[in-house]
Amino acid sequence: MEIELKNISYFRDGKYILKNVYFKFEKNGIYTVVGPSGAGKSTMLKLINRLIEPTEGAIFINGVEYKNIDVILLRRKIGMVFQRPFLFEGTVKENIELGPSLRGEKNIDALFYLEAVGLSKDYLFKDVNNLSGGEAQRVSIARALANSPEVLLLDEPTSSLDPTSTSIIEELIKRLNREGIMVILVTHNMEQAKRIGDYTLFLYKGELIEARKTWEFFENPISEVSKLFLEGKLKEMIE
Ligand SMILES: Nc1ncnc2c1ncn2[C@@H]1O[C@H](COP(=O)(O)OP(=O)(O)O)[C@@H](O)[C@H]1O
Ligand SMILES: [Mg+2]
Repeated sequence: MEIELKNISYFRDGKYILKNVYFKFEKNGIYTVVGPSGAGKSTMLKLINRLIEPTEGAIFINGVEYKNIDVILLRRKIGMVFQRPFLFEGTVKENIELGPSLRGEKNIDALFYLEAVGLSKDYLFKDVNNLSGGEAQRVSIARALANSPEVLLLDEPTSSLDPTSTSIIEELIKRLNREGIMVILVTHNMEQAKRIGDYTLFLYKGELIEARKTWEFFENPISEVSKLFLEGKLKEMIE
């Protein structure tokens, strides 16, 4: 899948939250999106998922302006996982089956998706209230996978998890990517961005400052603001 952000802006409450961003996600890799808080990272993911729409510019999916694509279909193909596990009351199985069953699918193989995120069948009938943070986040990913997405958008999916759960999710992301799912991952964890990214986008004050191979960005950032960011010296980062 190819996602082209064609000079998109998002203007709200008298200011630009994203400004004239051009980027084409076209290779089946892991894209990590970094930048100080308030840079517009979550806004970028919401725009791609069409939870909001650009106020200027347009987004093209495989060459088609996305306003011309059925939004339900778009969100199936481009799944989104949030910082907090996004589950509703009920069992793990019910959560995984919801998307496909809303589309009228029968005989949904919930276990297949559960195993895809490394959880055993014992979890199928568990109440989601009894899951740990890491397990709940994995079930959130399983829920997204049940829609057979081609792209996964992940917004700081490990920020509230312990190191063990974090590394399980990172391995899972890498495996899903090897199996063909393009990943766009927002993270404030630079080590994570470096560990699992193939490409890295650096956003600052709503602008895309650099977008390059991950190792190049970290080894040899081009712009001054990128260097300051990587050195932890941007004033926005000092709170
Ligand atoms: N719905 C909204 N209405 C008004 N301002 C918003 C809205 N969403 C985000 N913002 C503002 O836009 C900026 C970027 O937000 P966000 O995309 O969440 O940044 P990030 O994810 O990089 O921390 C922030 O200053 C935030 O306060
Ligand atoms: Mg955010």
